[in-house]
Amino acid sequence: MTTPKRYLITSALPYANGLKHVGHLAGAYIPADIYVRYLRAQKRDVVFVCGSDEHGTAIPMQAIKEGTTSQAIIDKYHVAMKEDFADLDISFDIYHRTSAPIHHETAQEFFTKLNDAGELEIKESEQFYDEEAKTFLADRFIKGICPNCSSDRAYGDQCENCGRTLSPDELIDPVSTLSGKTPVRKKTTHWYLPLGKHEQFFRDWILEQHKDDWRNTVVGQCRSWIDGGLQSRAVTRDLDWGVKVPLKEAEGKVLYVWFDAPIGYVSATKQWALDNKKDWRPYWEDKDTRLVHFVGKDNIVFHCIIFPLMLKLHGNILPDNVPANEFLNLEGDKMSTSRNWKLDQRDYINDFVKKENGGGQCVDMLRYYLTQIAPETKDSEFTWKGFQDAVNSELVAIFGNYVNRTFVLMHKLCGGKVPKLHEDILDDEDRRLFEHLQRTALTVQYSIEEFRFREALFEIIDIARKGNQYMQKKEPWIVAKQLAENPGAQKSIDNCLHICLQLCANLSVLINPFLPNTAKKMLHMMKVVDKMLDWENAGKLKLLSVGYSLREPQLLFRKIEDEEIAYQIEKLKSGLVKSNAEKNKAVKMEEKSPSTNQPVNKSTIQYDDFAKLELKAGTVLSCEKVEKADKLLKLEIDLGTEKRTIVSGIALHYKPEDVVGKQVIVVTNLSPRKMKGIESQGMILTAEDSDGKLQLLKPENPVAPGSNVS
Ligand code: MF3
Ligand code: ZN
Repeated sequence: MTTPKRYLITSALPYANGLKHVGHLAGAYIPADIYVRYLRAQKRDVVFVCGSDEHGTAIPMQAIKEGTTSQAIIDKYHVAMKEDFADLDISFDIYHRTSAPIHHETAQEFFTKLNDAGELEIKESEQFYDEEAKTFLADRFIKGICPNCSSDRAYGDQCENCGRTLSPDELIDPVSTLSGKTPVRKKTTHWYLPLGKHEQFFRDWILEQHKDDWRNTVVGQCRSWIDGGLQSRAVTRDLDWGVKVPLKEAEGKVLYVWFDAPIGYVSATKQWALDNKKDWRPYWEDKDTRLVHFVGKDNIVFHCIIFPLMLKLHGNILPDNVPANEFLNLEGDKMSTSRNWKLDQRDYINDFVKKENGGGQCVDMLRYYLTQIAPETKDSEFTWKGFQDAVNSELVAIFGNYVNRTFVLMHKLCGGKVPKLHEDILDDEDRRLFEHLQRTALTVQYSIEEFRFREALFEIIDIARKGNQYMQKKEPWIVAKQLAENPGAQKSIDNCLHICLQLCANLSVLINPFLPNTAKKMLHMMKVVDKMLDWENAGKLKLLSVGYSLREPQLLFRKIEDEEIAYQIEKLKSGLVKSNAEKNKAVKMEEKSPSTNQPVNKSTIQYDDFAKLELKAGTVLSCEKVEKADKLLKLEIDLGTEKRTIVSGIALHYKPEDVVGKQVIVVTNLSPRKMKGIESQGMILTAEDSDGKLQLLKPENPVAPGSNVS
C-alpha cells in the first residue's frame, strides 16, 4: 500500500455517563494510540481525535439515577474521562466534547446539507407518549414485561434480564419510567437515512473493495447487515437533550445521538485546527487522507455503514479501515457496569499508577497486558493472574532483565562506555542476532501497519528473549575472568556488549509506540534525545556511538506481588456483592427476581386486601416448554370446575415432565396476561430456596382440584 499524505485517526467517543473500564481501553484507545505513536515516529502527518459523546438518552438516564441534571452529568464525566485517558498516556491531539457549540453547528450543517439535497426521507409514525410528562418516550424510558423471559426488567430497547433486543411495541404492559403511567401512542414525524437505497454502494465498497484488508469479523458483520436488508434509520428523535434539528417544523426534536456523535470526529478536527492554526479541510476532504476508526465491535455498524453513508452524501472521504475489536471479558465473565463486574481505568490508576511504586511503569504494564491479550479476532479475557504473569515473566524477566544485565555488565566490564565492535572477530552468533533484529524490525512494522498489534508486541519481546540467549551463550562475565591470562579476550567482551547495547537502543525504538514510558526511561539511561526514537532507526546497528558514556541502569519494571493480585480479586468479588444488594434495593418491588432471597419489606395490608385474592389448589394436567422463551413453561391446570392455561417462569427449575400430576396453588382472579402470544390465566405460587431455585407450593396431602386456599 502506498503511503498517504496524511492520516486522521479516531477512537470511539465514549458516552459521558460514567467511568470507562479497561475493556474500553483495550478496544478503542490503546490500539489507536499505538498506531498513532508509530505514525508519529514515522514522521507522518497525523491527527488523533476523540472526545466525549454527551448526547443520547444515556445522559438523562444517568442524571435521573444520580438525582441531578444532564448538564452536571456531562461536565463531571467529561472531565473524569479526559483525566483518565491522560493518566494512561493516550496521546490524543484533541479530546473534545459534543456539547461544544462548534459541534452543534457542524452537526446541524451536516443535517441541512443532506436534507436540502433530498437525501433524507420524512415519515410519520406512532410512538409512545407520556401524557402526564407531556413528552415522547425514548425506548429506554419505557419499561414492561419481557415477551421472551417475562422478567419485568425489560426496557423499550432491551431486556436487562435475558439481554434480548426489543422494540417498545413488544413490551407487555408498557409503562413510562417518568410518570409510571401507561403511555399512549401518538403520531410524530421523523427524518430517516434511507440505507436500503444505497445497498449496491455498500456491497461494492465493503464486500468487494475491502473484503481482504478489513478484519474478517468486521466484513462479516457488515455482510450480515447488508444481506439482512438495510432499513431506513431515523436520524431525529423527540427528546429535549441533544443537537436541535435545524428546521422550523421540527420543534422539540433533536438529532439522533448516533447521527451527531460521529460528526464529533469532524468538529474535533475543526477545533484542533483552530487551536493549531491549521486547515481542517484536507483531513476530511482530500482523498489522500487515510481515515481510520478504532472502535469496539458494538460500534461496527455505525462506523462501517451509517457514518460512511453520511460522509459520502456530504461529500467527505470514507474510512480506509475500521479495525474493530471484539470484547474483553474479566475473570471468566462478561464485563458489566450494571453488575459492577469490571475494572475501571480509574481503579487501576488509583491502585497502581498513583501508588508509591507506580507511575509510568504501571501505565506501561497495563498497556502491555491489554495489548498482549487484545481481542483482535475473538473475545479474550483479562485475569489478574494473567496480568501478573505477563508483567513478571515477560516484562520483568525478559525485557527488563535483558536491558538491566546489559547496562550492569557494560559498566562492570567496559568502563561505562559503549565498547568498540571488532569486525575481525565477528562470529555466526553475532551475525544471526543482527539479522534477526533487522528482519524483526520489518515484521513489527508490517504488523502495526496492518493493525496486528499483538503480533508486533510478541516479536519485540522475542528480540529481548534472543538477546538474553545470546548473552547466555557469550557469557562475558566468565570471559572476564580469563583476562589476566588472555588480554585479547577483551575484544570478545566488547563485541558482546556492543551488540547488546545496540539491541537495547533498537528495543527502545520498537517498544516506544506500545510502552512510551519505558522507551523514555531507556533514552535517559542511554543519554540520548527523543530523536533516537524515530522509526527510521528501527533495525539499524549503529545507534549508539562507540566511546559514548551511558548512565547507570534503572529497573524498568517492578514485580507484581501475589498480595496485590489477591486484593484485586477480592475487591472485584465484593464489588459484585455490593452492587447486587444495591440493585435489589432499587428493584425490590419486582416479583420473584431469581436468587434474591432478601427480606422484602412490603407495606402492611388489611385483611380485606388479602381477601381480594382468589387462591385455589389445582392439578397439573400437562406441561410444555414455551417456544423461544428459556424461562417459561405452559401448564394446563385442572381446577375442578374448569381448566386453565397458565404460563409460568419456572422452566429453569422444573422440566415439563416433572410437573405433570403435581398439585399447585393458583391465584385464579389475576387479570389475564399475554406472554409470548399465550394468554396466561392466573399465576402459580412458588417459594425460593437458598440456592435461588424456585420450589412449587403444594398442599401437604392431595386435595380435590378447585379446593379453596385461605
Ligand atoms: N458513545 C458511543 C459508545 O460508547 C460511541 C460513539 S462513537 C461515535 O458506544 F462515532 F459516534 F462517536
Ligand atoms: Zn427478557
